[in-house]
Amino acid sequence: MTRAIVVPKENAESLLRNLQMERLIDRTMKIVKRGNSILVPVTGEPRFDLAPLRARLEPHVDLPHRLRPRDPRHEIRERLEAAGIPVAHAPRRWERIGGVLVLRLPSEGQPQARVIAKIFGMVLGARTVVQDRSGIHGPMRVPDVQVLWGNGTETVHIEGRIRYAMDVARVMFSSGNLAERVGIADRVRPGAIVVDLFAGIGYFSLPIAVRGRAETVYGCELNPVSFRYLVENTRLNRATNLVPLLGDCRAIAPRGIADWVIMGHFDAREYLDVAFDALRGKGTIVYHELCPKEQYPDAMTQRLAAAARAHWMNVQAIHTRIVKSYAPGIVHSAAEVEVTRQNRP
Ligand SMILES: C[S@@+](CC[C@H](N)C(=O)[O-])C[C@H]1O[C@@H](n2cnc3c(N)ncnc32)[C@H](O)[C@@H]1O
Repeated sequence: MTRAIVVPKENAESLLRNLQMERLIDRTMKIVKRGNSILVPVTGEPRFDLAPLRARLEPHVDLPHRLRPRDPRHEIRERLEAAGIPVAHAPRRWERIGGVLVLRLPSEGQPQARVIAKIFGMVLGARTVVQDRSGIHGPMRVPDVQVLWGNGTETVHIEGRIRYAMDVARVMFSSGNLAERVGIADRVRPGAIVVDLFAGIGYFSLPIAVRGRAETVYGCELNPVSFRYLVENTRLNRATNLVPLLGDCRAIAPRGIADWVIMGHFDAREYLDVAFDALRGKGTIVYHELCPKEQYPDAMTQRLAAAARAHWMNVQAIHTRIVKSYAPGIVHSAAEVEVTRQNRP
């Protein structure tokens, strides 16, 4: 015997969506039909009100067991087939940002985009499904997404115990850079002063402030929308050592105080002078760029060494890495450059 919610057939979809959001569906039991009702096995009592859906909780129901919990990929495949949509028209992967699912649909899938989105959203328990239409644009790194199913693109994404509030339709978030976000927080020593020149919603600033226990992290952000989330995320994570600064880092970045400077933007090379000016005597610059694969890492290390010399700095060490493949023949690469100020004669 198990607990189940009984709901009229026409309200089953709304109920399932709400239950999925609260992760309450008991996946070890089968969902069954009884007359005009659907019985959904649950692991606990929902927090939302069942009355508007004309649903009710039955404490002791006899439902058949599933032989093993379902793999969502199988379930997606079955539902696509049932809807007459070739599996090749749907994406093979997805990105989950809080309650929002981001899909990149092949062109063949466009005519059935909304049905595909509904299937993914239902099976994967998302609140909203959006499609990433053309990537991320401009210096403020603004996404181009279209809502296909559900509503509301504002969400809170939790990663490594950090909460990132954001609007997926208005600011970027790259799940692929997780190792970077976590790794950097572990390397910055407690008590360090950090200047993040391109803070966004706090991608690097927050983990460094919260997990790395820096003394102060100054987060510069140009885009007022991202800045609003940076401020909100500072509060949400109780990061009292994070100081959000609104404006162009060229104008607002503090000077002569940093042990670490973070440059999480592909235009970072145009701001190396700002980074060197932010350092006090010696320190580490975390630098990102897009680089043709065959030029990695020499072009980047030479560029950094030349910029250091031009600012009367000596390079003590450069550690380079490829963050990910960005496009055919292009890599997203990063470097950590340790520098000390030269003794001028
Ligand atoms: C690419 S996002 C950060 C991405 C993040 N590093 C990641 O890997 O997910 C860079 C941010 O820098 C901001 N930005 C661009 N130019 C800026 C400038 N001159 N000063 C301050 N912020 C700037 C953009 O608005 C954007 O929010």
